Amino acid sequence: MPAVLEIEGLRKTYRSRRRGTRRALDGFDMVVEAGQVHGFLGPNGSGKTTTLRTLLGLIRPDGGRMELLGEQVPAALPRVAGRVGAIVESPQFFPNFSARDTLSLLAGAGDVPRTRVDEVLELVGLRERAKERVKTYSLGMKQRLAVASALLKDPKLLILDEPANGLDPGGIREMRSLMRDLATSGMTVVLSSHILGEVQLICDSVTIISLGRRVAAGPVAEVLAQHSGGGYRVRLEAAADLPVAAEELVRAGARTTVAEDHLLVQGVDKPASITRTLAARDLYVSELAPVTVDLESVFLELTGTAPVPGQHRQVDESAVPGQTGPTQGGWGV
Ligand SMILES: Nc1ncnc2c1ncn2[C@@H]1O[C@H](COP(=O)(O)OP(=O)(O)OP(=O)(O)O)[C@@H](O)[C@H]1O
Ligand SMILES: [Mg+2]
Repeated sequence: MPAVLEIEGLRKTYRSRRRGTRRALDGFDMVVEAGQVHGFLGPNGSGKTTTLRTLLGLIRPDGGRMELLGEQVPAALPRVAGRVGAIVESPQFFPNFSARDTLSLLAGAGDVPRTRVDEVLELVGLRERAKERVKTYSLGMKQRLAVASALLKDPKLLILDEPANGLDPGGIREMRSLMRDLATSGMTVVLSSHILGEVQLICDSVTIISLGRRVAAGPVAEVLAQHSGGGYRVRLEAAADLPVAAEELVRAGARTTVAEDHLLVQGVDKPASITRTLAARDLYVSELAPVTVDLESVFLELTGTAPVPGQHRQVDESAVPGQTGPTQGGWGV
């Protein structure tokens, strides 16, 4: 699969005379392959919007290399812009225009056939309300209109910054199925988000950013597997045997933690090696289950943003990429 979006070593420091300097991107890398729905995840202030704005030529980077649809940007932006649809942060519309007026205006300016306006209104679920003024729309309806405007030119690559913002659960589900349909039709979709449960359901692959650097990337299942710790929960017929079972497993080379009524066993290739080790000492397993992790746990671990009781985490208080144990090693694509 060719990459449709490629970023290497992107750097951006905001400089202001009054507020000093703020490093937003610190050698950031990202690769998105064609036909994927790709989740771009990171805590508030980690550099998602800065990345997307830089890609689209709205911010000048301090260094790094970027490609869209196989062409270097920003130099090739005039050539590729017609094949890239994007919404970065909340777009503004004329409040007195209806959705149809808004899209017709944009279609006229962009050489898009008028029939496409009705198509995209239908796609985003705004058909029934298309004649009402935008100022009477809810946040979620404005969000749908924004997606419709990005879809007008039937782009090869669709980039959406926080498309689920303001949508209700039904709207999020519709957005999800729309993204999937678009990917099936051959479009590549990149969406930034911090609604992780949604991303896990919708995305083929993800990039996780923390403090302006990539901390994980790859197919969702791979990222989950790499960071699940590969653990198994093990219960025994007799709970009293847990400590001795733990000793045996540690001797066999597994990392083992004793909990109240089970063991957590990590660092084994196959669960069969657990049962074999224990059975050799007449210890019998009554339950053995892989510990499943979700994207949210991986995200919290990698970005160092898991809540700590009694503390109010401030933005920018994340794990420094490359300095905490599990984030080392530069998993990449
Ligand atoms: N125009 C600006 N001037 C100065 N600093 C900025 C500017 N824009 C962004 N920043 C800073 O750069 C960092 C990255 O911001 P960015 O908007 O890219 O984060 P984000 O990942 O999109 O966050 P969110 O999830 O809150 O949208 C933040 O610390 C932010 O304060
Ligand atoms: Mg943002």
